[in-house]
Amino acid sequence: MTSSFPPGFRWGVATSAFQIEGATTEDGRGPSIWDTFAAVPGAVAGGHTGEPAADHYHRWRADLDLLTDLGVDAYRFSVSWPRIQPDGRRFERRGIDFYRRLVEAMREREIEPFLTLYHWDLPQALEDEGGWRSRETAHRFAEYAALVHEELGDVVDHWTTLNEPYPCAVAGYGEGRHAPGAREGHGALAAAHHLLLGHGLAVRAMRAQATPQQQFGIVLNQSPAVPVSGSAADAAAAARQDTLLRRQFTDPLFGGRYAPGLAAMFDGVSDFSFRLDGDLETIGTPLDYLGVNYYYRIHVADAPHREPDPALRTVTDIGVDTTRVPDVPRTGMGWPVEPEGLTEALVGLHNRYPGLPPVYVTENGCVYADRSDFADYERISFLNEHIEAVRTAAAAGVDLRGYFCWSLLDNFEWAHGYKHRFGLVHVDYETQARTPRSSYRWYRDFVAAQRTP
Ligand code: FCB
Repeated sequence: MTSSFPPGFRWGVATSAFQIEGATTEDGRGPSIWDTFAAVPGAVAGGHTGEPAADHYHRWRADLDLLTDLGVDAYRFSVSWPRIQPDGRRFERRGIDFYRRLVEAMREREIEPFLTLYHWDLPQALEDEGGWRSRETAHRFAEYAALVHEELGDVVDHWTTLNEPYPCAVAGYGEGRHAPGAREGHGALAAAHHLLLGHGLAVRAMRAQATPQQQFGIVLNQSPAVPVSGSAADAAAAARQDTLLRRQFTDPLFGGRYAPGLAAMFDGVSDFSFRLDGDLETIGTPLDYLGVNYYYRIHVADAPHREPDPALRTVTDIGVDTTRVPDVPRTGMGWPVEPEGLTEALVGLHNRYPGLPPVYVTENGCVYADRSDFADYERISFLNEHIEAVRTAAAAGVDLRGYFCWSLLDNFEWAHGYKHRFGLVHVDYETQARTPRSSYRWYRDFVAAQRTP
């Protein structure tokens, strides 16, 4: 018999502000880096922008009805920083009012709000001052966090600082694939550090005014790196990949040190002079939970650097080849379907960091081409297998507290625009009609069955 999930385990779905809200100029909202980036020709597929998205800003009540009918007891959403501080400083009350209405309506429905403060939509005004390259942005973030916490602390108990600092720093400031579209070596590493610093400062600022039941955490994407062979060179390459994507963040957060090996990988690219005394302690401020987002594993082979001169190297040019993916099923994004990678990620964290806080799987989901009747059997089997992988990790001793499917609705999938659809619910972007897919009904029945004693 399979073991059941721990008592009180939460079942939820996740979204983020820029991906679903639309209404990018309403109620005083200022531009974010994603508005600016999407306006650059060629930056986002199809020339898509944050409009109309799923028009959630106007349709949030109907979307909460979808949550009620789904039967989930938790909803992970994000607050748009440029709605709260349109220029990165000035407070816009209409922004906070929107989230208060949303959260109060969740409470009425007995759905626990899991609030994320930063899901990639930095106010453009702060990018103009240096963005995450600049240490100042970490302080602005802590001020913003304290402000939202002061305003919504009476109705929200679960506070996540950042969603996935890795792509913010590396895709945003290293590869230029995400906003703000910069291609810098040192800048990306500084951005990663300042994101972590901002996280630590924000947790401290919120805790100073928090009630005892409030919980603070961070969400990290965890794609374990697997060497393509048993060779020492491939193992070392996989270790470099893990250092860049995972340990750059998890070691200072949970291990009390900067990732060993990170500085050596970027010799000639960065001098790490942005690390100041005391930063490590701030970053390592104890947390109540870690959120893990899992989509795929990365298969890694040793390879020569693309750019021989270290000083000219981009931040992902770390002597790896990540194209040698084994012959396994792929999702519509082309991502290999390997649920065992989720167990591996969770158990690996648990084994590496003795002080790891309780863990939620805060995102997991997939894209497949739609049939006319929205019968998405592939998504059902994907979710089923990954939930089983979470169960296996829990049985192995990982302190798991919940699972959130990405996503409730189809939405703006960053540089891919609206082409790729992750929703349990289909969105017609012309009419904004919502049509639950078969996976929505499957998840509803699955969640209901977990509650039946
Ligand atoms: C994650 C992001 C989320 C969504 C999924 C597919 O990296 O956090 O916003 O785009 O990928």
